[in-house]
Amino acid sequence: MTTTADTPPLCQLNDIPDGNAIEVEAMVAGEPESLLVYRAGEMVSAFYNVCPHAGRRLDYAPGRFLVRNGLIICAAHGATFTAADGNCQTGPCRGDRLRGVPVTVDAGSVYLA
Ligand code: FES
Repeated sequence: MTTTADTPPLCQLNDIPDGNAIEVEAMVAGEPESLLVYRAGEMVSAFYNVCPHAGRRLDYAPGRFLVRNGLIICAAHGATFTAADGNCQTGPCRGDRLRGVPVTVDAGSVYLA
């Protein structure tokens, strides 16, 4: 059984400003991926840094995301996604969702779940 002690963390919880997101590059299923990791208090959610509308990155500059009031805003065409679950609320891909990556927080560190 793999435990969090066996794998390095994606980042520390305190690396992520509360109510905002950072980019973390990590191996997921054997592939290097850019991930958006969002934090609200002790809650963390993570998504592939890929918009379901046109497959563009969500960030407006490498690792810089538009996050307002619990919404992630795609820098390409402005689709908005609920940061907690990735559901698209407005924009050209409304009804679609960001592809999530399960994460867990243990002793202040964020791990792939
Ligand atoms: S690529 Fe994100 S809204 Fe178009």
